[in-house]
This record gives sequence, C-alpha cells and structure tokens, in this order.
Amino acid sequence: MDRVVLLIVGLFIACVATATPVTSTFDKENPIRQVVDGLHEIENSIIQIAGDCYRARTFARFVHRFGKRYESTEEMKRRYEIFSENLKMIRSHNKKGLSYTLGVNEFADLTWDEFRRHKLGAAQNCSATTRGNHKLTDVLLPEMKDWRKSGIVSPVKNQGHCGSCWTFSTTGALEAAYAQAFGKGISLSEQQLVDCAGAFNNFGCNGGLPSQAFEYIKYNGGLETEASYPYTGKDGVCKYSSENNAIEVLDSVNITLGAEYELKHAVGTVRPVSVAFEVVNGFRLYKKGVYTSTKCGKSPMDVNHAVLAVGYGVENGVPYWLIKNSWGADWGDNGYFKMEMGKNMCGVATCASYPIVS
Ligand SMILES: *[C@@H]1O[C@H](CO)[C@@H](O)[C@H](O)[C@H]1NC(C)=O
Ligand SMILES: *[C@@H]1O[C@H](CO)[C@@H](O)[C@H](O)[C@H]1NC(C)=O
Repeated sequence: MDRVVLLIVGLFIACVATATPVTSTFDKENPIRQVVDGLHEIENSIIQIAGDCYRARTFARFVHRFGKRYESTEEMKRRYEIFSENLKMIRSHNKKGLSYTLGVNEFADLTWDEFRRHKLGAAQNCSATTRGNHKLTDVLLPEMKDWRKSGIVSPVKNQGHCGSCWTFSTTGALEAAYAQAFGKGISLSEQQLVDCAGAFNNFGCNGGLPSQAFEYIKYNGGLETEASYPYTGKDGVCKYSSENNAIEVLDSVNITLGAEYELKHAVGTVRPVSVAFEVVNGFRLYKKGVYTSTKCGKSPMDVNHAVLAVGYGVENGVPYWLIKNSWGADWGDNGYFKMEMGKNMCGVATCASYPIVS
C-alpha cells in the first residue's frame, strides 16, 4: 500500500505541475507495476489527495486498462503530459459534434511522431494500379454491404510495433477469399510476408503493398498458416517451406487508381478488398462514426496504411466504407472504422486490390 501511495504522490505532483523534486528511491520502484492490481485504491487515493483532478484519474484508469509499464518516474511524467495533450485533442474534437468521435485507446500516451514511426510503413508508390483489371457489370449494387454477416471475415489481429499493416491487409483479404471459396475459416501467416516478400518491392516492418504481396504469393507458390509460421512482429530470415502451403493465389485484381465506384462494385459483388489510405494525426484515436479529414492526401505517394474494406453503408446520411484495421479488437469500433465514401477520402480507392484463390 505504501508503494501505491508513492505513485499517487507522483501523479499528484504531475497533476498540479509543481516543481517538487522526486526522491531517488521513488525512481527505483517501478511505480506503474503497482497500479495494475489496485485501480480503485489508486483512483480513490488520487481523488482524496488531488481533489477532482479529472486528468489524473483518467490517466490512472488508462494505465490500468492497458497494462502500461514505464521505465522511470521521468518517463511516467512525460507520458502523463502527452496523454493530457491527447485528452485535450479528444475532448475538443468531440465537442464539435462531427460525424465521428475520438476516444482514449492504447495509443493515447504516444506522440504522433512516435506512433508514425512504430505503426506506419513508408509511403509507397502504388501507381501500378493506374490500369485496373476489375470487370464492371451492370448488376444493381446492394445499398449496404457487410461481409461480416456472411461469416467470411476473420477476427481482427494486431500488428504490434511493426509497419506490417500491408501483410495483415493481405491475409485479411485471403482469409475472406478462402472462407468464401471453401466454406471454412483459416488464419494465414503475416510473418512469411514480412520475412520473404522483399523481392516484390516489400520492406517487412518498413512497409509494402497488398497487391505486391499477392504477386509474391502467386509466384512463390503459396502462403503458410499463422500456426505454421507465427507472427513475431520483427523483420526476420525467410523460413518458408512449400510443404506447409495452406493457400495459393491464382491471380490478383487491381482497382483502377481512384475509381471509387469500381471499388464499391468489387466490395458489393465480389468480396472484401485490400485498400490503403493516408493516416494523419488524430486517426489513431478514432472511436466510432464516419471518419473524414481535410488533412489527408489521396495520391499514391500519400498512402501509408493498408487495411481491408469489408463493406459499405450510410450513417446519418453520410455514405461510408466499413473497414477492418489491424490494431487489435480494442481499437476503434471493435477493431473497425468507417471512412467517408464518395470523395476518395484519404486515398481509400487509390491503391486497392483483391486476390483470386479458386
Ligand atoms: C511512381 O510509379 C510510376 C509508375 O511506375 C512512375 O511513373 C512514377 O514516376 C513514380 N512516382 C514516384 C514519385 O516515384
Ligand atoms: C496489380 O498491381 C501489382 C503491383 O502493385 C502488379 O504487379 C500487377 O501486375 C497488377 N496486376 C494486373 C493484373 O495488372
């Protein structure tokens, strides 16, 4: 209990921003480790000591909920400051009553620069899709589509600290294609793509493109399952073995750059489609609603994150894409988000493709 009190004092100091020096014994403790078990004690004590310090209480809950561990008191203070800034951004955004809201999630103690470095690949030039090969038909598109309802969309995964979004976009598309073709679920290997797909202009944890990953699988022979080639979230040596092939790619189809109707046709009538877009600051704290931004770009050189479009619809009069992310099921709207449709918002139709597996 005395350790908990030490933590409370630390928080209190940060809360009122006095210059009281922190003792060195405090540094030796790992203050955050104590938090994990006693949220109520911590909250109550904070309120007792600091009064109605909303931010400190919110921070304590955040630390508890996401099992955060900080190396030192200095580090904890720095995280508390960043958290406070992000909290301000969230509250001021949510007051505006726009089509989407932001919320505290596991990224709320990171700066935009840190987030970008750990999560996003380098922008890729995906203009190979300037001439797409998706065939339009004159079938009437469904007004709403949600492939999750057909049971072919696999559970949301988490890419961790690696710019491997493109591998998750790829496996997500393949897992859906597999379930659709063979009537059963499968979980496929991202790590094989991280480790082995370099010859097709992919860069492991530094980024890549689903269309290029489909090409790799097509020419390489196949892709292993998650179980036979598990995810480590780090660049590694290729350990692929064709004996473990779980799926083959016969071909891939590219959506013409920026042709959003073509993308809608593909998602509405074929299956989920890998898409990319530009993540800008703020998006990482998305909670729910239809995301829209005036800050993101649409060009092939802007897009920095690959995901999976699994449907579309209209919410409060705003048409949207329904998109599966790879930042865990706790992020956003159960791991998903909605992106405004009809304006090639953030380049969502700039770099899209889907695989053919049977
Ligand atoms: C992107 O790729 C296209 C086609 O390969 C090429 O014409 C263009 O110059 C590239 N752009 C940049 C900025 O690298
Ligand atoms: C689709 O795009 C990829 C690269 O992004 C390219 O290698 C492939 O040839 C394209 N496919 C078709 C059918 O144009």
